[in-house]
This record gives sequence, structure tokens and C-alpha cells, in this order.
Amino acid sequence: MKSLFLSLVVVSVLFMNSFSDVQGKKWKGEGTTKNLESIVIGRCYNYIRIVNPAVGEKNCSEIWEAFKNAFINKDPCSILPKDYELVINLSLHTIPPNKSLFWENNQLLVKSFADRGRRYMSLSDTLFGFFGDFLNWCGQANSAGLDYESCPTMEECENNAVDSFWRMASITYAQHSSGVIHVLLNGSAVGGAYPAPGFFADYEIPNLQKDKISKIVIWVVDDIEGPDIESCGTHTVKILENRLKTLGYDVTCTDNYKSVMFLLCLDYPDDSKCTLSSSAPAAQRGPISSDRGGSWNKLLFVSFLGFLFRFALVY
Ligand SMILES: *[C@@H]1O[C@H](CO)[C@@H](O)[C@H](O)[C@H]1NC(C)=O
Ligand SMILES: *[C@@H]1O[C@H](CO)[C@@H](O)[C@H](O)[C@H]1NC(C)=O
Ligand SMILES: *[C@@H]1O[C@H](CO)[C@@H](O)[C@H](O)[C@H]1NC(C)=O
Ligand SMILES: *[C@@H]1O[C@H](CO)[C@@H](O)[C@H](O)[C@H]1NC(C)=O
Repeated sequence: MKSLFLSLVVVSVLFMNSFSDVQGKKWKGEGTTKNLESIVIGRCYNYIRIVNPAVGEKNCSEIWEAFKNAFINKDPCSILPKDYELVINLSLHTIPPNKSLFWENNQLLVKSFADRGRRYMSLSDTLFGFFGDFLNWCGQANSAGLDYESCPTMEECENNAVDSFWRMASITYAQHSSGVIHVLLNGSAVGGAYPAPGFFADYEIPNLQKDKISKIVIWVVDDIEGPDIESCGTHTVKILENRLKTLGYDVTCTDNYKSVMFLLCLDYPDDSKCTLSSSAPAAQRGPISSDRGGSWNKLLFVSFLGFLFRFALVY
């Protein structure tokens, strides 16, 4: 009797817990990242002090205020890209020519390839991309608080706080890119190397400033052990090449660009795609080793002469 009572208590506590969980969540997506304010302000100062001091002085508290004001106290499904205009204005800086790197379906690869702006400056290596990277946020109508329980997904509403931010950031990034533009695409991506709709197709290409761009370089890189679904001149990559050429750009496309392959090969050193070219062992037999061989031969010859000399002395 006692245990039956206990079970009932346990069951009803469990039921009430899951009931209140469901009630707390308005949306299907994850809620605001905890400690959002500290993360954004901290990342902002990390960026201007350590990662890229060339951007000059910025007021990171002011950037946070502008960021928050873009979406708090509003219906989380009615946030527009232009609501982030002030944040972008406050955090904008020049993107060095020839350094822009656009991408689709390979975010982590691009992160290590760009190397925090040292090799290339992808969107997430700019100040405005850097502080928003991998974060989640949304507010609620009639309250200045953030919603830490849940946020709307793209499927629930297009004009959510996060997607509108990235749309604005992508537009700005494209508008400020110049020189040689690079695009890294995933030749093993299931949905196509050049997805449309997509950020690159819909927000970046239309905002490139043609007069500032000398060339567009496309790299299509397959996963080391992944399928070769797309290449230059086929399927969606062909669609992209044609679109850019029609817009009047000078376009080149390279499959499995070597530098990116080297990076992917870090994790697959024994794969046949990852063997270094046959010139490598030859280089090891280069000047240094033949020189050593030369001195070794001389040493042998001198010892032999000494031996002959002593031999002649004895006899
Ligand atoms: C930075 O912005 C904050 C908030 O807008 C302001 O209170 C503060 O005075 C500003 N600091 C500087 C150094 O301008
Ligand atoms: C942002 O900067 C642009 C260009 O300088 C200006 O036209 C616009 O009014 C600014 N927007 C805000 C919200 O400050
Ligand atoms: C950008 O690349 C082009 C073509 O390779 C080169 O002529 C130009 O000097 C480069 N610009 C900078 C700033 O490195
Ligand atoms: C390329 O796309 C495939 C399939 O969508 C994915 O599994 C893989 O991780 C992607 N490759 C990179 C380097 O991100």
C-alpha cells in the first residue's frame, strides 16, 4: 500500500515535470545561449585586442546594447535584417582585399582553413561574424527578457532573430569584399555543393560589388572518404559558374584544391588520396644527403690511403 502510494507520487511528479517543460517551451529551437551578454562582449574585446587589433577601437558595450535592442521586446518572428543595422555600423571594419572566403556546407573546415583571418577572412573571422558565431538568441514580445527556454527555428519563421542577423551579416560581408574572391564548396554535400536557396546564393552573390572584384575562385573539395558527388562544370557547380559568368565575373574553378586537401588529410594520413607526391622522397635524397655521401666517400678513400701507406711501411 505504502509503495503503491510512493509510485503514484513519483509518477505524478514526473508527469508534472514534463508537463511544465512542455509549457515553458514556446518554440522548437534551442533557447538563448546562457551568459550571452558576457560571451558577446568578451568575444568582441578578444577580437579587437588579440585576434585582429587592426580594426581599431570599438565600444563593445555599445555594440552589445545595439545587438540586444535589435530583438528584445519584439515578437521573435518579426525581426528583420535591417534591425541589426546599428550593430553592423558600430562593428564594421575593412575586409582586406583577396582575403574573402565564402562557403556552404563545410563550416568547420572553413574555420580551420581561414585560421582566424590569418590565411583568409571568412564571415566568422570579421568582428560581427566573430561575436555571433555558434550562438543562439531570441527575445519575447512585451518583455525585455531573453528567452532561454526556446527560440523559433527557420521552419517556424524565417524572420527570427538569429537568421535575420546572419542575413544582415552576410549582406554586409559581401558588400565589403574585394579583389580575388574565394568560394569553398563541399563536393560531397548531399543537398548540392551550391545550394539554392542558400546564404551564398541569396544574400552574398547579389551583394558583391562588381567594380571592386577582380576574379572569383571556386574550390570544390570532396571529403577524403566521402562520395565525389559534384565537381567543377557539373550539376549545381555549373549553375553557379554560369550565374557568375553571366553577371560578368572572371571565374575559375578547381577540384580538390591541394591546400584544402592537405588540411583534410590531417585526419586521414593513410588514405591513398593523402600520399605526398613522389617528389618528396627524391627531395630527401637531395643535395644534403649526396653531400654527406661525398664526404663519407672521401673519408673512406683517405683511410684507405693511410692503410696502404702503413702497409708499405711495414713491408
Ligand atoms: C561605450 O558605450 C557605453 C554604452 O553605450 C557608454 O555608456 C560608454 O560611455 C561608452 N564608452 C566609451 C569609452 O565611449
Ligand atoms: C548605418 O550607416 C549607414 C551608412 O553610413 C547610414 O546610412 C545608416 O543610417 C546607419 N544606420 C544606423 C541605424 O545607424
Ligand atoms: C590581390 O591579388 C591580385 C591578383 O593575384 C594581386 O595582383 C594584388 O596585388 C593582390 N592585392 C593585395 C592587396 O594583396
Ligand atoms: C560535406 O558534406 C557532407 C554531407 O553533407 C558532410 O557529411 C561533411 O561533413 C561535409 N564536409 C565538410 C568538410 O564539412
